[in-house]
Amino acid sequence: MTILVTGGAGFIGGNFVLDWLAGCDELLINVDKLTYAGNLGTLKSLDGDLRHIFIRADIGDRDALSRLFAEHQPRAVINFAAESHVDRSITGPGEFIQTNVVGTFNLLESVRGYWNELAADEKAAFRFLHVSTDEVYGTLAADDPAFAETKAFEPNSPYSASKAASDHLVRAWHHTYGLPVLTTNCSNNYGPYHFPEKLIPLVILNALAGKALPIYGDGQQIRDWLFVKDHCSAIRRVLEAGKVGETYNVGGWNEKANLDVVKTICSLLDELQPKADGKPYVEQITYVTDRPGHDRRYAIDARKLERELGWKPAETFESGIRKTVEWYLGNQDWVSNVTSGAYREWVSAQYGA
Ligand code: NAD
Ligand code: DAU
Repeated sequence: MTILVTGGAGFIGGNFVLDWLAGCDELLINVDKLTYAGNLGTLKSLDGDLRHIFIRADIGDRDALSRLFAEHQPRAVINFAAESHVDRSITGPGEFIQTNVVGTFNLLESVRGYWNELAADEKAAFRFLHVSTDEVYGTLAADDPAFAETKAFEPNSPYSASKAASDHLVRAWHHTYGLPVLTTNCSNNYGPYHFPEKLIPLVILNALAGKALPIYGDGQQIRDWLFVKDHCSAIRRVLEAGKVGETYNVGGWNEKANLDVVKTICSLLDELQPKADGKPYVEQITYVTDRPGHDRRYAIDARKLERELGWKPAETFESGIRKTVEWYLGNQDWVSNVTSGAYREWVSAQYGA
């Protein structure tokens, strides 16, 4: 048996690959374009592991993907590959449309071609699981109920609009062609191997480097945080038992204002790595210009996943954020690799691009 994962050198995909292979011996084909966000250092512990085959390819390369499907005959495809950073989507939306919309379309077409040729029993058992985000639902006011799966899509950023488009394509490929798809819409993840352009790793690393901790606007925007391993367990559960054609919201019931998240990180660092001058890290907080179109609040209602598939997160925000800060303190090699440019140089030398 084989599964094929796209975007498996990124933050969530990388955690998923490590988690999957820690729990089973099924062959895993990992297809990733290795953009700036893809880091093979995350998968270092799999060097020489015959259960993991890494292939550098773009999900938009239909021929390459079709060849891979024909060669490896996966029983499932899990699509993590995407441009994922909202700020980058504001300064350069083109890549988001290319990968998240056109890329997902091409991937769906390659999958459909492969799936059509399978024997009847394999065809019925096959799954395409699309990993998506709560941002497709738009933004919430303070007293609105959390996003349920029935909430209309109201994306507000180029990133969330491109993800919403990809979710619609996946849905259409099921309704029109019968492709056995599953979609997950998850809230903000955090944990090990998170690229330091996103709030939590950025704040940890800036704090340690004595740099400013940038808070957009008033810092009262709310996100619903989920430890990345809990997202991985939810995806495994949906893959195993989800009803074809359904979408499942994934969340940690951990709504926090950004400023509170940053202050929590500061106090953990005060405890775990106090500054030489004895000053608190919180003094490094700096208020900066807000993100254009910044969504005020996200909150996920994950009751469908709990009720129908029995999934619950294992970590609280308090336990997960402590593990995360400890991980960054203990993994300076990974950090310097992704931040120094050495990793990009290695990719160029290795792949000539
Ligand atoms: P990431 O940016 O860390 O990783 C994305 C990975 O996809 C990278 O390894 C990159 O090299 C690869 N990739 C990009 N374009 C590609 C292409 N055209 N072909 C092949 N590979 C390509 O992202 P992430 O945070 O790990 O997010 C993974 C998925 O989960 C995304 O679809 C994202 O929308 C979704 N998601 C993320 C979060 C979150 O909080 N990070 C929450 C909910 C959903
Ligand atoms: O909700 C799920 C989404 O969460 C995913 O779909 C995205 O891929 C993922 O990047 C994340 O999006 P956010 O925009 O919420 O994450 P980010 O870490 O960029 O920002 C978290 C919050 O912190 C957001 O309200 C903006 C704010 N922020 C962010 C940065 C980088 C700051 O105040 N300062 C910063 O420097």
